[in-house]
Amino acid sequence: MSKSEIQEESPMEVYDANTTAPLSSHKAHHASSIRDVSSYWSNLATSKLEWFAPHVGGASGALSGSLIDGSVSWFAGGKLNVCHNAVDRYCHAPYDRGNDVAIVWEGDEPTSVLRITYDELRMEVCRISNALMFGGVRRGDVVTLYMPMVPELAMTMLACARIGAVHSVIFAGFSADAIADRIQDANSFYVVTASEGRRGGRVLPLKSICDDAISKERCANIVRRVFVFDGKDEGGDKWEEGKEGKHVRFTPLVASMRPVCPCVWMDAEDPLFILYTSGSTGRPKGLVHTTGGYALFAMVTTANSFGLSQQTGPSDPHNMSNRDVYACVADAGWITGHTYIVYGPLLNGLSTFMFESTPMYPDCGRYWDMVQRHGITVFYTAPTAIRSLMRYGDDAPRRYDLSSLRVLGTVGEPINPAAWKWYYDVIGNGRCSVVDTYWQTETGGHVIANLPGITPMKPGSCTLPCYGIDLAVLDPTTGKEIETSPAEGVLAIKQPWPGMARTCLGDHQRYLAVYMKPYPGYYFTGDGCRRDEDGYIWITGRVDDVLNVSGHRIGTAEVESALVAHYSVAQAAVVGIPHEIKGQGICCYVTLVEGYPETDALVKELYLAVRTHIGPFATPDMIVVNGALPMTRSGKIMRRILRKIASSELDTIGDTTTLSDPSVVDELILKVDKFF
Ligand code: PRX
Repeated sequence: MSKSEIQEESPMEVYDANTTAPLSSHKAHHASSIRDVSSYWSNLATSKLEWFAPHVGGASGALSGSLIDGSVSWFAGGKLNVCHNAVDRYCHAPYDRGNDVAIVWEGDEPTSVLRITYDELRMEVCRISNALMFGGVRRGDVVTLYMPMVPELAMTMLACARIGAVHSVIFAGFSADAIADRIQDANSFYVVTASEGRRGGRVLPLKSICDDAISKERCANIVRRVFVFDGKDEGGDKWEEGKEGKHVRFTPLVASMRPVCPCVWMDAEDPLFILYTSGSTGRPKGLVHTTGGYALFAMVTTANSFGLSQQTGPSDPHNMSNRDVYACVADAGWITGHTYIVYGPLLNGLSTFMFESTPMYPDCGRYWDMVQRHGITVFYTAPTAIRSLMRYGDDAPRRYDLSSLRVLGTVGEPINPAAWKWYYDVIGNGRCSVVDTYWQTETGGHVIANLPGITPMKPGSCTLPCYGIDLAVLDPTTGKEIETSPAEGVLAIKQPWPGMARTCLGDHQRYLAVYMKPYPGYYFTGDGCRRDEDGYIWITGRVDDVLNVSGHRIGTAEVESALVAHYSVAQAAVVGIPHEIKGQGICCYVTLVEGYPETDALVKELYLAVRTHIGPFATPDMIVVNGALPMTRSGKIMRRILRKIASSELDTIGDTTTLSDPSVVDELILKVDKFF
């Protein structure tokens, strides 16, 4: 299915969401939430989080600074600890939920399941905290985590939060080069990894990828210690401590530690974590999220968007009917996992689910098998996963009892109406709310989403802004806000919200240039959108050079710099192409340095160069080698033309006579044609 076909499907059908409250009261509540955002979030901060000391300035002083100069701060002077709020407080009065399950982990094999209670989680997090401190980690240090999807990943994130260290999680699909870049950028002295992980029956050699990263000159002198958890299986742990100077066998060290470790009281504006994401340049940005604002936003949006409430008392083992079983099947290495696997659910005292495997292992019924076995009520995944499962038809989901489901979430990219309807009809049996959550690494949590049971749904629209989020649609040329609907333009946010990233690590000018300066007074998302006559938002995709491949954000410039780093490549231009399953695919055009002929072996090397530089998830869909690229007479590559050729939209290529050599276009059309 091509992109235009996706858009042509009748998107205007409206589904009600087993509505229990009128939409008008939701809209009124939203309007009042943005009338005075400082008081709105201040009241929630006081009622939802436990503080060691309240922030200064009262309700009206919770917010200070502005979007114009990027000086936003929330709850400044307030002292709290996120690990205390996500773990410890639930172990004692008034919650007394120490025996309730905090994490359900399902490993690569469906038979490997662990249930960890809040008490157990607290003790293990304390042991890890003590082990990190024993190894030298101190408040403010950046700890890089390169881990499989095992409970120790969440526990180590929480341990960092507990002792005031700043975690920087790198998704386990990134290459050694990408890890080295991030360690260097963050000046991270400590790395936590595991000897290996598992995914879809395959072994991920995480320690050896990490070893490769830290042996690179640019980070060899930065990293002081590498803490290596044992793998969950036998065999991967055959390395000797002491032989490799920096490495510490972490599993036995953690086991030998005391299960008590006091929380460090942090300022609300102290950084909680860094997460790298892609932008328009080749260099990934380390976005910095803070302690108080992020925690509150993660907690509140988890509860609102999925209709979950904070668990305030111990669960009754005889009556589980009022307990939700919440499962977000993302990887904790991305922002979705940070906010909606680790922090959001645990801050609400819910039980969260960690899934190590893939939707296809051992077969395409894996998700639905999990829903049945665990009685999952809220299930949260990405459109790519839905589209790829849809291809296998309705038989797999129909084999399982999916009647426990109540809410189906989607995230990461626009969901096309056909996939939405399959999710709604086949998985949800026409009974569940499909919650389309729009947000970004930068926003920390949902900024647009329908509320289950409240917002009528339109397949393909993420609907209306979340509480406390003041959205604006701007005219991209004048920068003026379009107040009327329907409207089409770029999406921006006009008042600060607590979950927003505060800076790019070590480069506040870049933060300002990307988010605050394009439209002064607004936070610019980088997305285009349409707002319909009901005020519903329809995301039309990125308006910058960022691709969204299977929900993974990849900068075209990152792929280009991976290609031009290869000795044979003279020029590279990367564009997105519509892709039936992945949403977008990657098309690379390259010219070679003279003397290097195009051979199959060389082109294979180029695919490999991208995998090595970034990671396998960024593997190009096609690499087109040609003697020249379409350039203007002033020497600028015409990416617009390259995009049209790659997407076979030849009738809208436009005028090519201004090119320095128009015949290049015909050559490229022939070459691209061979891929189809
Ligand atoms: O283009 C939007 C798209 O994903 C981008 C953010 O990517 P990332 O920071 O990696 O975060 C992904 C998980 C939140 C956005 O700029 N995007 C995210 N959610 C949606 C979406 N596009 C349409 N609909 C969504 N629900």
